[in-house]
Amino acid sequence: MPLSARFRFALYAAFATLFVTGAAWLIADALKDGDDAETWQIIAANLLMLHGGAAMLALMLLGALAPLHVQRAWSTRKNRTTGTAMLSFNAVFVATSFGLYYAGAEGFRPWISGVHIAIGFGFPLLFFVHVLLGRRQSARQAGNPRRIRGADGGQASGDRQQRTPGVQVRRW
Ligand code: HEM
Ligand code: HEM
Repeated sequence: MPLSARFRFALYAAFATLFVTGAAWLIADALKDGDDAETWQIIAANLLMLHGGAAMLALMLLGALAPLHVQRAWSTRKNRTTGTAMLSFNAVFVATSFGLYYAGAEGFRPWISGVHIAIGFGFPLLFFVHVLLGRRQSARQAGNPRRIRGADGGQASGDRQQRTPGVQVRRW
């Protein structure tokens, strides 16, 4: 499910901003107890504000991604493994973000923060592999007329080759 260049760029920009501001916040937070403590504290607060803003944009984009990308890819059975990992990572991002804002218990917050940061550093690699494998699968299938038929029998997916009469189809 190739995305429009504009939508794809918005996704990359939002997640790159999240990664950069999150990583930079960790540095600023580590430096805020040393010299220039006040400056680093201000920088850290601004970075977190940018991070929160980018998170709101990312949530809007994820909402749009469901009908534009996820549903269509799912019904044609493409890239489901890393796609599921993408969905799971984002669900954990959202759940831990909620926890960062609202978790009351003292001992719980560092734990939530640790999970959020750990998946944050793994996410770029997953994203890269997802796009790479997805594009490879699409390219391979486009060059092969013996294509898979989606769960909807190719009716709703709009996939031209699935409608080709007489083509022998295979399920997996
Ligand atoms: C949070 C969830 C997801 C995000 C952020 C995401 C993002 C992306 C992006 C940015 C691309 C590159 C698109 C392009 O080159 O035009 C891509 C490709 C792809 N994704 Fe996802 N994806 C997600 C979930 C899924 C799921 C659940 C599936 C499958 C069920 C899936 C299947 C694919 C496929 C098949 C491609 C290759 C598209 C092509 O070039 O033909 N994605 N994904
Ligand atoms: C892409 C990789 C990401 C990295 C490296 C990252 C990193 C971080 C870090 C270091 C923090 C501060 C943790 C703390 O206060 O203890 C944070 C907070 C937060 N993150 Fe992320 N994050 C990432 C992605 C995301 C995503 C995808 C979302 C939402 C969709 C998100 C939403 C938030 C929110 C809402 C906060 C709390 C902000 C605040 O306290 O004002 N992050 N993140």
